[in-house]
Amino acid sequence: MFDGSPTEISGLVRPGRVHRRVYTDPAIFELEMERIFGRAWIYVGHASQVPAPGDYVTTRIGRQPVILCRHRDGGLHVLFNRCSHRGAKVCVLASGNTKRFECMYHGWSYDTDGRLLGVPVPEGAQAGFDLADSGLRPVPRVASYRGFVFANCAEDGLSFDDYIGPMTPNIDDLVDRAPAGELLFDAGVHRYVFPGNWKLQIENALDSYHVPSSHASTVNEKGEQFARREGDETGAAVVDRNRTSDAWKGRRSFVVGAAGHGWTSNTALDESGRSSPVFYGYKAALAEAVGETRANEILTPRFHNSLLYPSITVMGLNVHVRVIHPLAVDRTEVHVYPLRYKGAPDAMNQRNIRLLNVTHSAASFVQTDDMEAFARTQAGLASLAEEWVDISRGLGDERPGRDRNVTEGSAMHELVMRQQYAAWLSYMCKAG
Ligand code: FES
Ligand code: FE2
Repeated sequence: MFDGSPTEISGLVRPGRVHRRVYTDPAIFELEMERIFGRAWIYVGHASQVPAPGDYVTTRIGRQPVILCRHRDGGLHVLFNRCSHRGAKVCVLASGNTKRFECMYHGWSYDTDGRLLGVPVPEGAQAGFDLADSGLRPVPRVASYRGFVFANCAEDGLSFDDYIGPMTPNIDDLVDRAPAGELLFDAGVHRYVFPGNWKLQIENALDSYHVPSSHASTVNEKGEQFARREGDETGAAVVDRNRTSDAWKGRRSFVVGAAGHGWTSNTALDESGRSSPVFYGYKAALAEAVGETRANEILTPRFHNSLLYPSITVMGLNVHVRVIHPLAVDRTEVHVYPLRYKGAPDAMNQRNIRLLNVTHSAASFVQTDDMEAFARTQAGLASLAEEWVDISRGLGDERPGRDRNVTEGSAMHELVMRQQYAAWLSYMCKAG
């Protein structure tokens, strides 16, 4: 039986391989909820989703329901979405605006900073009952960077600065593309549930090796869908006309710090779309806001896709943010947010959103391929024929990068997965 001891957990990860149980064992999943999602900084939403007092969105930290809301003083609060009376969720909508959260069960009502405002029939309360002690519990630590709000269920541990610090250039890379310097998460969300473990999605996000085969119909010049998408009236072709699977071999992947973060690089931003009038209009707006030189710098492709472990990817190529919500050991929900650049011409924002519809909507060509790969992987891992999953590509070929203390390797290797499992071990092996 799994006992959760550091010895047993560390036995699940070996150089270049990981035990199948990390994807299939419910006891390991339970421990991940406690030791990773209960201790790591978890992305809970973006400030632009709650711009006005009373605005809120509901989400989860691991499986715990939480509310991100803006109080009337302008402050952001992250509250456990659990009534202090008998435990009901007090807010069930995905988003909205409210003066107070009122629990439907017995009617306790809470202010948007979590304070308990009142209870029905107060004279029935136990002697000494104090409203001030019975508010919605706040998530212990909350911090944000350029609108990205994170919360941490642990009172102490890795500081937010240490968590986010190594990845701020990657976030800046995307946010700076907005002429007004802000991203807007106000263009809806694509939601998926797949029958597989949550780690399959975070491993995949920076896995260039799967692209030529999983997404053959999109990226190979002979792929059927590739041909059909040319001539999109927005000028947005998904991939460069000349891009073949060979082109993916030149990409690099990078990992940084001990927290499991990484990114892939060396892929140009949608080159074919860059010669469109829409792009020129956008570039002019950006140059007007930040100057020609800075605009050129911002639009020089650097970071392709970035992962902030354990649950958010910031995707520069087809502009979006993806948030991974574990539901069970073999069930995961993914939210894909299209982004708008504040201050950019509508045509440019529409073009980005349309591009994401092609690549990541439910009727898309790309994300749906990945969902199929995850389902097949989870199904295959039910086999007891082999205990180990191979993540050894490029083992030993990693080398220090030029700056930012990174380690880099070919994006066709599995450096990123090995780094994620190093972080996984460091969270999972700490008891208490
Ligand atoms: Fe919320 Fe009773 S459970 S008021
Ligand atoms: Fe993919």
